[in-house]
Amino acid sequence: MSAAAPRVAVFGSVNMDLVAYVEQVPASGETVTGTAFRQVPGGKGANQAVAAARAGADVAFLGAVGEDSFGEDLRANLVGSGIDVSGLRTVPGASGVAHIVVDGGGGNSIIVVPGANGEVTGVAAGDPGIIGGSAALLLQLELPVEAVVSAARTGRELGVPVYLTPAPARELPAELLESVDVLVPNQHEAAAITGRAEPREALAALLELVPEVLLTLGEDGSLHGRRGGEPLHVPARRVEAVDTTAAGDVFCGSFAVARAEGRTPEEAMRFAAAAAALSVQRHGASSSMASRDEVEALLGG
Ligand code: RIB
Repeated sequence: MSAAAPRVAVFGSVNMDLVAYVEQVPASGETVTGTAFRQVPGGKGANQAVAAARAGADVAFLGAVGEDSFGEDLRANLVGSGIDVSGLRTVPGASGVAHIVVDGGGGNSIIVVPGANGEVTGVAAGDPGIIGGSAALLLQLELPVEAVVSAARTGRELGVPVYLTPAPARELPAELLESVDVLVPNQHEAAAITGRAEPREALAALLELVPEVLLTLGEDGSLHGRRGGEPLHVPARRVEAVDTTAAGDVFCGSFAVARAEGRTPEEAMRFAAAAAALSVQRHGASSSMASRDEVEALLGG
């Protein structure tokens, strides 16, 4: 990685994704025949870390895997992506797993069983040394909330901009929000937090909680706002999606890297939209993520 690459820290979850592809998701009590099965490294935190690394950042990942073979594979995937795993613990028990069903339209439903992720209770002694000096700290909600609060406070104390993807959606405690600089929800999460389904209304409500919001809207693109500023909408690229798993993670990781490089919010949104458009045309989470060269080629084309 070149000396100019921004450093990005991700404190979050890592899961083994067990993905079944079907035309139609079965109803309760129904059995259907799938078209394919894949086992792919995922987890919202690890996905954002890999996305940031592919976007060109120097990335450190902090979290936990279990003592099982999934844990070894998940660690190896991060190392293979060039990510610093000195903050990745191995804890007794099973690694996190996600059972994912991808339907014929590329949409998904996900059940996460946290495993080792649930054992992360806060920032460990060596973590501030890894987080400090980063251009961004990326957080999600697949770790216990006290761990996320602990990491957000550490980021704030160290002067590192804190990004929070509020997924899976849950109530956000004030002690967490007070340390968040950029909230990155999708439309469903924004509606769950604010009670507003209309994106611009949700954005306005979220800006009462945090200073900056990037709202991802799937096929409708993304909406960005800062307190006191005008909302900015960037459309999505029209592509044939085969698997939208981790598209939001790709968007967040890519946006954070582009911002850390000094790009404007609009430039960063276009960069992230291109990265997400490439990822949804491929299967899986980390396996679907495009390199920076591919993203730049798409933007230049
Ligand atoms: O955001 C997608 C991710 O959610 C998957 O990789 C899965 O592991 C779940 O955490």
